[in-house]
Amino acid sequence: MAGQLNLFLGVDVSTTGAKALLIDPQGVVVASATTDLSLSTPKPLWSEQDPHAWWEGTAASIRKVLAQAEATGESVRAVGLTGQMHGLVLLDAGGNVLRPAILWNDQRTGAQCREITEKVGFERLLALTGNPALTGFTAPKILWVRENEPDVLARTSHVLLPKDYVRYCLSGEYATDKADGAGMLLMDLRTREWSSEVLNALDIPAEWMPKAYEGPDVTGVVNAQAAEATGLKAGTPIVGGGGDQAAQAVGVGAVEPGIVALTLGTSGVVFASTREPFVEKEGRLHAFCHSVPDTWHLMGVMLSAAGSLRWYRDTLAPGTSYDDLLAPAAAIPAGAEGLLFLPYLTGERTPYPDPFARAGFVGLTVRHTRAHMTRSVLEGVAFGLRDSMELMRGAGLEAIRQVRVSGGGARSALWRQILADVMGCDLVTVNTTEGAAYGAALLAGVGAGHWASVGEACDATVHVMDRTEPSSPPVSAYEAMYAQYRTLYPALKPTFDALAEIQGS
Ligand code: XUL
Repeated sequence: MAGQLNLFLGVDVSTTGAKALLIDPQGVVVASATTDLSLSTPKPLWSEQDPHAWWEGTAASIRKVLAQAEATGESVRAVGLTGQMHGLVLLDAGGNVLRPAILWNDQRTGAQCREITEKVGFERLLALTGNPALTGFTAPKILWVRENEPDVLARTSHVLLPKDYVRYCLSGEYATDKADGAGMLLMDLRTREWSSEVLNALDIPAEWMPKAYEGPDVTGVVNAQAAEATGLKAGTPIVGGGGDQAAQAVGVGAVEPGIVALTLGTSGVVFASTREPFVEKEGRLHAFCHSVPDTWHLMGVMLSAAGSLRWYRDTLAPGTSYDDLLAPAAAIPAGAEGLLFLPYLTGERTPYPDPFARAGFVGLTVRHTRAHMTRSVLEGVAFGLRDSMELMRGAGLEAIRQVRVSGGGARSALWRQILADVMGCDLVTVNTTEGAAYGAALLAGVGAGHWASVGEACDATVHVMDRTEPSSPPVSAYEAMYAQYRTLYPALKPTFDALAEIQGS
């Protein structure tokens, strides 16, 4: 491997780690390394990280992959960036970080979301940005800082997203890509440029915004200081990349209408590409730009998908392997003999954007065993993901031909079968399992001219491995149980609100 040339580097600045991934010209993974990151929750509803840790973690991971590949910086033709979306990084005129970054899963901005909706108008916000104001998005965080830390905002000159702070450290450029940019609630979804109407209404200076590029476009090059810190060669091009969900979709080849990416990680994401900006009429699906030029996407985000199973295992069966936990659930009949699991362990986004939504088992009897509970967790998550799928079908998207499932939860054949049965469509797994970093590396390859387009890069590297078809005849128990699942949130909403009040939120 020593001295191998023509490598592409993908960097993923996620909430849990800064990952670097090197692929060769055939898309084969040559090296991968992750530096763990910690999360700070200094107050209820808050979620923050230190941007310097992202940069230090990224530089360490890049040094590690170069060492693993026995490659020098000369071997890397281009870099692609991806990362957690929606986070707010504030910098002063000299590029110094002004406060810890406020992350995508921070829930402090309820009042600011109401303020944005009043100032811009719900319909107008949806028409311009494609989305309603949600606590996770970036714009309400800027308003929160203005209202609560005015001295910080007074010193602000630049607003960046998490991976774009790393871009700044690599290149000195204030830039983003359009997929991640669209998640700030400040972009005009149709023109793929910052919306002066929304910026003006919220009194956010346009000069603070980074320049927004398409995913494969070159935004700058590695500078001398970053070359020193990472081992990359000064002058190596850096492409726009994408927010983690768009880059993940590129990484599994979900770049054209009809192919849906279903990611079963801590959160669960249903992602569909569209040829034009498509907005769900009530804004219940996120509508963002894709990292593919002239392409957009609709996305449903469930906050606790495989995260529900992890919580369940850690709490009720600590020390048990997932294989041992799931095996007995395969023998339980579909519908878990009348037991439902509502998966809102960390609140929810799609279809109910509600930080106070809560989880629960409903229908427990003395007959139910741990295996029933396990099965109902798998089924409850599948029902939650079907909610997003139904919204997509209702929004009139092009027919879904294939669902490409990835993420830790997709390793379970039982869960894949439950998902195929609950959603009523074919699920496939693909050969690429490195997630968003892989998509970012492919975008780097397109930016460097190695592949002519994102579609060509995906065709050359991503292949279907395994197919799960819905059972025939369809499992009728799931239809009956899904109908009951759908009644739970509306019925329990007053209770969720009352519980939040008792907890003092
Ligand atoms: C997408 C979203 C998450 C974060 C963290 O809307 O909030 O995917 O990007 O991974």
